[in-house]
Amino acid sequence: MEQFQYQQGSLACEGVALSEIAATYGTPVYVYSERSIRERFEALEQAYASVPHLVCYAMKANDNLSIVRLLAGLGAGADIVSGGELFRARRAGVPADRIVFAGVGKSRAEIAQAIDEDVLLLNVESMDELDAISEVARQKGRVARVAARVNPDVDPHTHPYISTGLRKNKFGVPADRVIEVYRRARDDQYLHPLGIQMHIGSQLVHVQPIADAVERLVELVHRLRVEGVDLHYVDVGGGLGIRYRDEEPEGPTDLAAKILPAIRELGVTLLCEPGRYIVGASGALLTRVLYRKENGAKKFVVVDAAMNDLIRPSLYDAYHEIRSVRQCDGEEIVDVVGPICESGDFFAHDRLLPGVQPGDLLAIMSAGAYGFAMASNYNARPRPAEVMVSGTQHRLIRRRETYQDLLRAEEGL
Ligand SMILES: Cc1ncc(COP(=O)(O)O)c(C=O)c1O
Repeated sequence: MEQFQYQQGSLACEGVALSEIAATYGTPVYVYSERSIRERFEALEQAYASVPHLVCYAMKANDNLSIVRLLAGLGAGADIVSGGELFRARRAGVPADRIVFAGVGKSRAEIAQAIDEDVLLLNVESMDELDAISEVARQKGRVARVAARVNPDVDPHTHPYISTGLRKNKFGVPADRVIEVYRRARDDQYLHPLGIQMHIGSQLVHVQPIADAVERLVELVHRLRVEGVDLHYVDVGGGLGIRYRDEEPEGPTDLAAKILPAIRELGVTLLCEPGRYIVGASGALLTRVLYRKENGAKKFVVVDAAMNDLIRPSLYDAYHEIRSVRQCDGEEIVDVVGPICESGDFFAHDRLLPGVQPGDLLAIMSAGAYGFAMASNYNARPRPAEVMVSGTQHRLIRRRETYQDLLRAEEGL
């Protein structure tokens, strides 16, 4: 499945040397492997093949239109969290009846947009939100299909910022209040409760916490049937982890083995919302070494990418493997840092790297998820280009921003 490999001493993505990508499009640049995205999507499809299911790609991981279009073409739906993502999903060709809308703070305008588009499910996170959905649906004379997002109070054992299924987190309806939400929805002619959903966190290397939470959902589905609420969809969220360093993450087949028997018995359609699993390891951020410098005992490699391009190390203290594109000799311990005026602007601290020199290229690996999607214009830096590789072909899927792009929303006021 690994599509970034050394070929004749030079790192390549599928059949294209990363040095060719840098020469063609400049740096920093995100590079994605189409084959990797396809293979990982297919792995999910195969794992869940024995039950009716729909893989709703979590667009927040990477909402590039070409990537979403590719996945839509393979049969994926989309998990969205904003009106903007709904707009992009539709633009990329995702059918509305394959879109699920999550999020703790949907505005009335976003709810109206989702009802107009007739998305498959609005995932409700509070009684207040259910009231808002009902009100908007009534104004439109429409019926909104809803699912409650359950907070199952299960510890996913991941970074606190991406842990979402504990009682102390802002997400979901506590399991002991879910029945109340469904009674309210059942008795409202503008609401149709049709699903139940959860998402307990991201980058989970063990699937047992997901399976434990699914067990709670299954119990709730049974209790709701007694209440006269017959749910057709059980959405188990995203969260499957990938390898950034030396993790040995469990994958979709491990999860399927634990949850499919209960899903099959319920006779429901399984929904899932993977993001990182599909695109994380399918992308790398390619950057060029600008300078080397030493401050006392510390050695720095200054590169042309920065925290505005990839914020995960700064935000989560996340580890990303860094490879020299040119296989070179020597070993040294360095900090890899960007040009931004923050000490938090780093990609690695005290990292053992080969002796790279100004002009060399580095690949920051597993940057396909929450990489470009979280990029900003901080320090008035235009965001990087994005390139898709397919076999021996490569193509631009987002051009590098220009200085003019930086001014666009302010001009002519
Ligand atoms: C509701 C919801 N679904 C799916 C995901 C995707 O998670 P991941 O990229 O870990 O699969 C997230 C991410 O935070 C989320 O909040």
